[in-house]
Amino acid sequence: MARNKIKKVANIEITGIADQGLSVGRTSEGEVIFVEGAVPGDLVDVIIYKKKKRYKIGRVETFLKLSPHRQDAFCSHFEECGGCKWQHLSYEEQLRHKFVTVSDAMRRIGKIENLDIEPVLGSKDLKYYRNKLEFTFCNQRWYTQEEIDNSGSLEREPGLGFHIAGSFSKILDINECFLQNDLSNDIRNWLKAFCIEHQLSFFNPISQEGFMRTVIIRNTVLGEWMVIVAVTKDDQKKIRLLMKSMVEAFPFITSLYYVVNGKRNDFLLDLDFHLFAGKAFIVEKLGSVSYKIGPKSFFQTNSHQAKALFDTALEFADFKGDENIYDLYTGLGSIALYASSKVKSVVGIEEVAAAIDDAKINAAFNGINNCTFYAGDVKDTLSEEFIANHPRPDVIITDPPRAGMHPDVIDTLLKLEAPKIVYVSCNPSTQARDLLLLSDKYIVTRMRPVDMFPHTHHIENVALLELKSS
Ligand SMILES: C[S@@+](CC[C@H](N)C(=O)[O-])C[C@H]1O[C@@H](n2cnc3c(N)ncnc32)[C@H](O)[C@@H]1O
Repeated sequence: MARNKIKKVANIEITGIADQGLSVGRTSEGEVIFVEGAVPGDLVDVIIYKKKKRYKIGRVETFLKLSPHRQDAFCSHFEECGGCKWQHLSYEEQLRHKFVTVSDAMRRIGKIENLDIEPVLGSKDLKYYRNKLEFTFCNQRWYTQEEIDNSGSLEREPGLGFHIAGSFSKILDINECFLQNDLSNDIRNWLKAFCIEHQLSFFNPISQEGFMRTVIIRNTVLGEWMVIVAVTKDDQKKIRLLMKSMVEAFPFITSLYYVVNGKRNDFLLDLDFHLFAGKAFIVEKLGSVSYKIGPKSFFQTNSHQAKALFDTALEFADFKGDENIYDLYTGLGSIALYASSKVKSVVGIEEVAAAIDDAKINAAFNGINNCTFYAGDVKDTLSEEFIANHPRPDVIITDPPRAGMHPDVIDTLLKLEAPKIVYVSCNPSTQARDLLLLSDKYIVTRMRPVDMFPHTHHIENVALLELKSS
């Protein structure tokens, strides 16, 4: 019984932010407590709701002193949404914590000392910085505790918005989101009202009934818009009514698709996308490179900062013009194409075949002919035979997923001995692990974090590794 008793811990000074973005402090006995709702500098009483051997997790019960780094969250959904957890922390302080996250990982995991990590390259846009959002329809929206407390009876209202963190069935209805250009709010709010008015039923994630399922909204810096509506049945009468009305209501939509998803999950990439109106793709532009983005294409979600990230990678590589390079984990070739005019040749490798198709389409679209793209796992594709059949790389750019590089890839890189490796990462912990593994032959000479996602704990980091002279 005692184990489940709610326990309060008083007077916790919040001193930092941990890996996943939760604030952290210590009890007077030195025990670590992760605290929801607090920011570094707050003094709080905490209600503990989870106990582990080496730490506790809780939420703020009372604020005894407010941190000087606090600011008012600008979004009315902030308390429940969880999408922008750090809105109540000044941007300067967010960047300071991201810097600490990177430098701690490099010191603790990478065993890298004496490196002057350059300041985080912050985002100019603190709002409206995303170019893609996905919203989910739900026959009964999620009700906040305040709404439940303040209302006698709650009607079963439908909702269109974001999943509550970690839940497949709880959807927070969104009126205004500050992540994407405001026209995205107009499209979503119009869709919700239209579907209610025309009795296009909202999906019930438990019973799997209902017609309207998800909507993906994408836009580009060139002002192009793609909207993809997922419904559960190929009911052409309903689909045409909705799509035609959307075209009339939003003539600026460049590309309008629908998908029929009758599966139990929201994954769409294995389904056929039907173009209802407009072009098959939208165009994004970074620097002098234009990228065709189809409905299934991956693209970096903050275009302005993607350019800053690629510019940082290129600055670190310091190309002279005669280099042969590899771009590992190339996606749709975004970095490869961006770097192509500065080098002799580029080899890009990526496991998603559709992304490699996009890379080839985009090379042709830009008249780029010094890039070759291969679909396959880097671990298997980058074989001795492959290396022997391609120009030896002077620089390797690598941008792996959060898990970092496979140990076999690290071994291959150690054998390849390219003079420079530029390592772009969205996870400083796995990057630090890989840098340590590469340290037999490489020394890290530059490092710069780049903030792609203000108000979240996420941080990208670029490292330059140079081959030690033997
Ligand atoms: C962080 S993204 C980088 C994409 C690209 N550099 C860009 O900026 O758009 C990582 C990419 O690695 C791909 N990937 C993941 N595991 C892979 C593997 N084992 N081999 C090849 N590609 C992989 C993913 O599909 C994804 O496109």
